[in-house]
Amino acid sequence: MADTFGIVILAAGKGTRLKTDIPKALCPIQGRTLVDCVLDNLEKFETKAGVKAETTLVVGHRKDDVQGSVASKWPRVSYAWQKEQLGTAHALQTYFEQTPGAWDKDYTLVVCADTPLIGEDDYGKLYSTLLAKPDLDAVAAVFESQNPTGYGRIIRGQTGFDIVEEKDADEAQRAVTTVNSGLYLFKTKHIQAHLSSVDASNKAGEFYLTDLFKRSYAVEAVAFEDPKTFLGINNLVQLEEAARELQLRKIRSLQLEGVRFINSSSCYIEESVCIGAGTVVYPNVVMEGSVDIGENCLIESGTVVKNSKIQSGAQIFANSYLEEALIGMSAKIGPMARIRPGSEIGEGCKIGNFVETKNAKLDKKVSVSHLSYVGDAQIGENTNLGCGFITCNYDGAQKHQTVIGKNSFIGSDSQMIAPITLGDEVYVASGSTINQDIPSGGFAIARQRQVTKEGLAKRFIKKK
Ligand code: UD1
Ligand code: CA
Repeated sequence: MADTFGIVILAAGKGTRLKTDIPKALCPIQGRTLVDCVLDNLEKFETKAGVKAETTLVVGHRKDDVQGSVASKWPRVSYAWQKEQLGTAHALQTYFEQTPGAWDKDYTLVVCADTPLIGEDDYGKLYSTLLAKPDLDAVAAVFESQNPTGYGRIIRGQTGFDIVEEKDADEAQRAVTTVNSGLYLFKTKHIQAHLSSVDASNKAGEFYLTDLFKRSYAVEAVAFEDPKTFLGINNLVQLEEAARELQLRKIRSLQLEGVRFINSSSCYIEESVCIGAGTVVYPNVVMEGSVDIGENCLIESGTVVKNSKIQSGAQIFANSYLEEALIGMSAKIGPMARIRPGSEIGEGCKIGNFVETKNAKLDKKVSVSHLSYVGDAQIGENTNLGCGFITCNYDGAQKHQTVIGKNSFIGSDSQMIAPITLGDEVYVASGSTINQDIPSGGFAIARQRQVTKEGLAKRFIKKK
């Protein structure tokens, strides 16, 4: 049978030093919240280690906001409410009191909500230490810090060790550079045996979780090489530092899959973005939310892509803005195109500069090359919309549809007063304002007939 884990995420604290309105656990980082990152990494650990885990978030400050956000994405997470924050051991006690079955788990893993860089293999390292040494009851992740101020110091005894908090440490203890990361894995029976003996007789008057480690206990400090792993987010400087590290990891994994970045440090690519091999990404590109880009695409500078799918071979030229759109194979977009929600641009289409589309379905090989608005429209295969084409889709109250069939030619500077339907192989003369349907094969011209009067120009041309 798989080992059972109770995973406790401590998230009751205020996070005062962030100086933002958002509760710390919900701080955004690369398109996720801090606690989402932690939950993602824990889920990877569960899968990789093959353990059976139940996860509980200890909430307190702004608990409804935190709970609401987590519940919407993680239905299987449960919550313990720490009304007053009396310390990390008190948070753990709250978890055991409010979580049915918590004492029955083989192991209890304690994690802080603000450490997004701890990966599945780091959790795995604690677990394998306990598996390899059956006599151990608990392990704490520790690392060497050249600037240990603020951290609990690891004071080693013959076998076990004490953790002494900064406030309680004497001078010799403060000089110790091995520090407590705040990540622990316990056999649950160790907590059961010792939690009730933890008191608040320290300078802070708090119940310290670190008191579950003593030199007389069967505990081990597991050393980690890279202090970055445990970077905790207390302020916005650390938030950016952690975000940059996550970004670096994301870019690296894309590069190893065959995506070529020309200058990745200038790009912002969220975790949820997928990009196929052979695609080239220029500097200053932003990709947010669920973005799926195929193979051999080109994404030029200044382009923003949000929640969109771009199929293989498509080229997005500089400074284009795409949102909730589908771009078909080998389509060309921009430069400076705005592709708004509900746009479905078919295979081989050409959307040129200063073109805006919204709720528009363009079949294969439609061309809209310059200065146009295509909203609430359906355009058939191979149709050409000339420069300055406009759908007049809004009457001040409602939006109306424009439908144009295939193989049609709409001359420059034409407006379609929707609702309106044009058939296949229609020809509209330049400068027409179309307010009546045109059947297939029809030609329409809707503009004033030109009047030319010879020699009259001199009356109108003013001399300086
Ligand atoms: C803690 C450790 C310290 C370690 C450091 C690493 C203790 C006593 N000390 O100190 O040894 O070096 O982490 O970053 O644990 N929380 C609650 N309820 C509470 C108190 C805290 O949920 O009543 C949560 C906080 O929201 C936070 C976490 O527990 O996520 C850690 O608490 P914090 O006060 O930040 O501990 P540190 O002083 O950083
Ligand atoms: Ca902390």
